[in-house]
Amino acid sequence: MSEVMRRAAAEGCVLLKNDGVLPLAEGSVVAVFGRTAWDTIYSGTGSGGLVHPPYKTSIITGLERSGRVSIHSGMRSLYETWLSSHPFDSGCGWATEPWYQAEFVPDEREVAAAAEKSDAAVIVIGRQAGEDRDNAPERGSYYLTEDEDALISVVTRYFEHTALILNTGNIIDMTRGDDVGALLCVWQGGQDCGDAVADILTGKVSPSGKLTDTVARRIEDYPSDKNFGRGDADIYEEDIYVGYRFFETFAKGSVLYPFGFGLSYTRFDICVTGAESDGACVSFTVNVKNTGNFAGREVVEIYVKTPQEPLGAPARALLAFAKTKTLAPGECETLTIGTELMHIASYDETGRTGNKSCFVLPAGEYKFYVGGDVREAKEAYSLTLESTVVTERCTEALSPRREFSRIRPTLRENGEYEASYEPVPSAGYDYAERVSARRIPEAGYRGDMGIGFSDAADGKASICDFTAQMTDGELCALLRGEGLGSPKVKMWTTAVFGGITEGASRLGVPISTNSDGPSGVRSDAGDEATLAPCGTLLASTFDTELVTEVMSVIGREVTEHGLDALLGPGMNIHRHPLCGRNFEYFSEDPYLTGKIAAAYCRGISSAGAAATPKHFAANGRERRRSYTDAVMSERAAREIYLRGFEILIKTGYARSIMTSYNLINGVHSASNYDLITTILRGEWGFDGLVMTDWSAYMNADVGGEFSPRDLASMVRAGGDVYMVVESAENNPDNLIPSLSDGSLTRGDIEASARRIIKFIAESRKK
Ligand code: BGC
Repeated sequence: MSEVMRRAAAEGCVLLKNDGVLPLAEGSVVAVFGRTAWDTIYSGTGSGGLVHPPYKTSIITGLERSGRVSIHSGMRSLYETWLSSHPFDSGCGWATEPWYQAEFVPDEREVAAAAEKSDAAVIVIGRQAGEDRDNAPERGSYYLTEDEDALISVVTRYFEHTALILNTGNIIDMTRGDDVGALLCVWQGGQDCGDAVADILTGKVSPSGKLTDTVARRIEDYPSDKNFGRGDADIYEEDIYVGYRFFETFAKGSVLYPFGFGLSYTRFDICVTGAESDGACVSFTVNVKNTGNFAGREVVEIYVKTPQEPLGAPARALLAFAKTKTLAPGECETLTIGTELMHIASYDETGRTGNKSCFVLPAGEYKFYVGGDVREAKEAYSLTLESTVVTERCTEALSPRREFSRIRPTLRENGEYEASYEPVPSAGYDYAERVSARRIPEAGYRGDMGIGFSDAADGKASICDFTAQMTDGELCALLRGEGLGSPKVKMWTTAVFGGITEGASRLGVPISTNSDGPSGVRSDAGDEATLAPCGTLLASTFDTELVTEVMSVIGREVTEHGLDALLGPGMNIHRHPLCGRNFEYFSEDPYLTGKIAAAYCRGISSAGAAATPKHFAANGRERRRSYTDAVMSERAAREIYLRGFEILIKTGYARSIMTSYNLINGVHSASNYDLITTILRGEWGFDGLVMTDWSAYMNADVGGEFSPRDLASMVRAGGDVYMVVESAENNPDNLIPSLSDGSLTRGDIEASARRIIKFIAESRKK
């Protein structure tokens, strides 16, 4: 048993409802329903689900070995008999594991008999989804199956005390929570999931996880719903009003459970005793007192309401959070929570503030709210800016080329905001011209100067001189990685690059190895590695230190297996509940995403390994992901879809990053100059390695033809390694032809090669 994985898996459980049934009383008899108690779901599927832990503890095993409750044996044997003839269906290969498994609905008389001899019922429902497999708005995926519905109905008919446990990677329909006494989301908790869930159910640990997404009443209530996965272009007309930013501004009544919400077995009194700002930062002193009878932890969340004019603003945006230690009943802790106001700056792509293409804090009143979730947070402080403050001057980038409208709040007579629409500003520059105007100095080919890799790595010679010893062809080969089918790929490795080519190995460049990620080290051969809780669960802990601790364990395994990098964290925004990879990602909120990602990468790098955050950016769905154009305003891109990455990159904990499969406003991420060079490298100062997602497509210009062979576009955009090809030496791509026709320069490929060598050199030093 891994103590830290178990602790994290428990800390990320979110209790949404409790009429007193939880915690289960010590010594009570519990009837357990739902096959998922036995066939617990530990992770989602796809590349993020290929970790093989040494053991996996199911929920039934966890409950049983807790020693705190006893399991109703009659119901248990009914399930076990049924399960022996209804084995788990894991599908037949990639992306075929069903979303749901056949469920056993015991006969009504059996349920009635179990109710007579039990104190409470626990019903466990599971869901699966993952890479290449979005959820769907249908029974068995977002909705419960008829059998699951029938199971809840029959159990709640006979049991007075019922708890429904959702073992899912995504938000699903939670309206049946109305019919049970307690509702607990346990996500997909990794190898120690069962023990962790038992810790929560039996009260060994009080729940302290909080929702990282809003749970709406109906799937149609999500503002992205009408533009999710319907064609090859997803129009992000909800703009910056994603998740709670939408619901708290326009549709409070559609919320079943608000963002940041989660109950405990105890109560807390949150009291702001001080707040101050120097105009750049704001800081709060908050006393948290445990006023109940149970030990527990509380998350303090700070939200802000920024001036509505002139850009439009959501009613709430998360500005900061902190979690208490475990407080005994009556115990108090004082938290000092400070943060920079730049985190809440708005991006003005219109020029309405007089500062086009800048992040600004518009003049006006800023109200700050402090509490245990977005809905209940109370106003605690306000600050007025007399004039607009520019926090950062940027270059217009990534802006859309097609016309569409986006949501913008309009004040109604009753004082509430209504979602109206305004046209989105279209790009005011020529993308292709910008790319061709780039000028990268060229060192040129200078032949053998006797500089080995270790000379460059140790700083005895410059990396620039080192790569000047490589011919054009050798440099091009260096820019290609090889994947799982390659004979050079060793155990534990998802892909390799660097010393896999003759030119690089001649100069002593080692092979750089990496592995999926994000929940542990992937092994297709079934070799054992620790399976951490999924991303959504980690974020639900709202505990950055704990996330670092978890990921340092995984980071140590990365280095023990001789690997350089783990391909994670997955940190795309939960734009819609049906995205199959939401389990890998953290939240609908970019600030929380950035903070958790930074904690994750800090853990991995503390063990001497590199994390490779992915998928940069806007990988919001799985269906036809390589063809999906995420059409969004520059403001939504910068404030929502890039901000988490920005927070992480600026901490310096990531030395490499993976682009996404999709296009953003007509250009594939893997070849997107604005994404990689204008913003990531230019504005954020990232000088690390940029790799593509596996067999990604690229295109040279907005709306242009795309192909997995257009590596020249990747390099012009500032990308470094194309993942993956059959033979790095000999790939039918357009690198050499583009050098010959002058559309790519040796300077371009040298720049990528230098970053690759730098990455490998840094990895060796760790
Ligand atoms: C996924 C990445 C993964 C890569 C390597 C891709 O299909 O999108 O997240 O790291 O494969 O397995």
